[in-house]
Amino acid sequence: MSRDAEDHGRNLERVYGPLTWTLYEQLDVSSNPRSPDWLRGLAAGLLPPDGSVLDAGCRDAAHLIQLARDLPGITGVGVEPVPVHVRAAEEAVVAAGLSDRVKIILGEIATVAGQGRTFDLVWCRDVLEQVADLPGAVADLARLTGPAGLLVVFTTVTTELLAPAEAALLGHHLGNVAANLSRDAVEAAFTAAGLATVATHEIGTEWREWSEERGRPVSKALLRLARLRRDRARFVAAHGAEIVAHVEANLHWEAYQFLGKLLPIVYVLRPEPDH
Ligand SMILES: C[S@@+](CC[C@H](N)C(=O)[O-])C[C@H]1O[C@@H](n2cnc3c(N)ncnc32)[C@H](O)[C@@H]1O
Repeated sequence: MSRDAEDHGRNLERVYGPLTWTLYEQLDVSSNPRSPDWLRGLAAGLLPPDGSVLDAGCRDAAHLIQLARDLPGITGVGVEPVPVHVRAAEEAVVAAGLSDRVKIILGEIATVAGQGRTFDLVWCRDVLEQVADLPGAVADLARLTGPAGLLVVFTTVTTELLAPAEAALLGHHLGNVAANLSRDAVEAAFTAAGLATVATHEIGTEWREWSEERGRPVSKALLRLARLRRDRARFVAAHGAEIVAHVEANLHWEAYQFLGKLLPIVYVLRPEPDH
């Protein structure tokens, strides 16, 4: 037997030996990742008991409602440009019995900024990826944050692990703006808007691990992706190529977070006094 073959034989023994398989067993045990609810806890610690909060891009107001439930003294405003989300948010606020403390506005971040109001806390979760004008939206968020207020931004940026072909695939997402996924662009927009960073929390894979340990959403996304690709022509005929390409891109989002090609980050920011 050649030396290479002997070496390879030893490697096969190691691959199928206890040192290797006990590692897999250890990896079946949770490493206690932070849950997405951690963000609400962070925000709660930044708000005065009777504080005001703006949920910029609130979708169905699920997070705003939970925040208002956690903190019975606060008032909240949610702004959201998609009418179907606004209707769902309004219904959810009524169903939660929070109509006296939580209001929903149909519009964009700019709509509320134009009203000249400020809030003790501006919460902008998973929205900057989608705004048409990143510097403009961030400047509006800074305006909406009162002089002693704070801004909490959760967003996702690309990393050096994302290959050009993968970035091109993500580019078919109809909601996201590719340029907004640049960490440099996001942080430059903060600086230009006169926002100082109080804290940066790289979430990495933690929220994904937490969710996957419970509901296997990425497994579901990959199964959908495989079905989409195996029968693409049928789906394109029924839904059009653009929607199919968008769904294909979206089904990569969470898997790419898992693989470190996309990095979820939380920023806590405050307006610079003299900006
Ligand atoms: C990925 S969802 C996140 C929703 C919610 N914040 C959450 O964390 O579940 C992005 C939301 O941002 C909204 N959005 C996009 N552009 C916006 C803008 N300029 N102003 C306010 N909301 C915007 C979208 O309509 C969508 O509901």
